[in-house]
This record gives sequence, C-alpha cells and structure tokens, in this order.
Amino acid sequence: PANRSYLIGGNWKCNTTTSSALSLVSTLNSSGPIPTNCTVVVGVPYPYLSLVRSSLRSDIELAAQDCAHSSKMGAFTGEVNVEQLKDVGCTWVILGHSERRTGFGGDAGETSDLIAGKTLTAVGAGLKVMLCVGETLEERESGKTLAVVKSQLDPVVKVLKASDWGSVAIAYEPVWAIGTGKTATPEMAQETHAEIRSYISTVLGSAVAAKIQIQYGGSMKAANCKALLAQPDIDGGLIGGASLKPEFADVFRGMM
Ligand code: G3P
Repeated sequence: PANRSYLIGGNWKCNTTTSSALSLVSTLNSSGPIPTNCTVVVGVPYPYLSLVRSSLRSDIELAAQDCAHSSKMGAFTGEVNVEQLKDVGCTWVILGHSERRTGFGGDAGETSDLIAGKTLTAVGAGLKVMLCVGETLEERESGKTLAVVKSQLDPVVKVLKASDWGSVAIAYEPVWAIGTGKTATPEMAQETHAEIRSYISTVLGSAVAAKIQIQYGGSMKAANCKALLAQPDIDGGLIGGASLKPEFADVFRGMM
C-alpha cells in the first residue's frame, strides 16, 4: 500500500568475490525503478564495500555486516570501525545477526550487551542499524520466543536514547527459518512482529513504536514476500540467499 514505507535489505553474508559482486551489481543496476516508498540496502562483505559503492546505482544503499565496538582508530588489529565504513560509503550496518551471536569456529559469539554497544557506536556515528533478533527452534517450541527477543532488545533499550531509535530498524529473524527454506508463515511472523512493536511501545513509547520498521528475515524470497509484506507489522525484509539472485529485485519491484 502506498501509505506504508518498506525496508528491503539484502544480506550477502560471506559470499561474493570481485567478479560475482560486480555481476550482482550489474543485475541490480538494471533491475528497474525502486518504488518511492521502498528503501533498498545491500549488506556486502568488508573487502567489497568500496567496489560495490563505486559501481552500484545510487538509490540502493550500502550496509556493512558488522562493525567494531569502538569508534576509534588505533590498536585494534583486524577491527573495522564506523568511520571507515562511512568513508567507503556505508549508510547502514547489520548488527547482532544470529550467525554472529552463535559465533564461528568455536569462538564465543556476540552477546546482546556487545551488540548494544555496537549499536550505540553506529548510531552515534550517524549510521542506521538493522538490529537482528530471533529465537531458535527449541526456544520457539518451548514458548520462549518473546522472552528471547526481549532479552536481545533490552540491553539496546538501556543504552540508546529515545531519539536514537529513529536510526534503528529491527530485523526479526527466527533462527530456524534462516537458510532452511522453512519460512515462518505470514501469520506467525506477524504475531511476533506485533509483539515486538508492543514491547517497543511499552519501553519507548507509542511514537517510536509506530515509526520503527520491523523487517522479517528467514527464507524470504520473491515467491513468499507479498504475503509476508502484506502483514500490518511486517515493514520489510532482510534477505540472505535470495539477495544473491536476480529474484531479489522482484521483492522490491513487487511493491509497485
Ligand atoms: O540476514 C538475513 C538472513 O539471515 C536470512 O537468510 O538465506 O534465510 O534469506 P536467508
């Protein structure tokens, strides 16, 4: 509907090399107009941020998939900070993705407190944040979904000022739907989105709750995006696998 605004993110995750990044860019550059009520963002691996920004159409925004907790330059070997991300053309950063919360190769994952600190750093630097939350299958089946999502959001609520939330979108990504092809039904996703919005209203007030965009992530693709985006509290998507395919454009073209 024309009176709603949508946020469509593509999360490339740890995919692409120079050639496949450029081929994705060329597909996006020729994928037609983006509806005026739709913001499109692609989350690109660090090494290709500059390359993508310099060749991608200007009406698609660029996101990093993480950032350093500190905004400072200096002795932080291996870190990439928000100033560097801005310098290469990022306007967004994806934070708290479940793949980072669970950790890689046995190293400890990111805690909600760390993610809250990174969110504060990113917003403080003028970046917008897609803040990922979501439960595992075991947590859903034991009725803990809302408790888990609240535990992931609470530390962020504690550190951000109310006005900071204008730079934050929440990406609800049930872990059991990520990369599995098992998309949450529109009704199930809507239920949790509505609960998240109600929680935001309780802790931050109805104005923030009405304005904040809540994206769904977890096997969203061209074939199921319409039914999901028709839900009143689903304001967009954060798309992994399908964002690496030409069908990604069908998601935002479908908004026309
Ligand atoms: O961040 C989006 C991602 O977690 C969803 O992945 O492949 O299920 O669309 P996918």
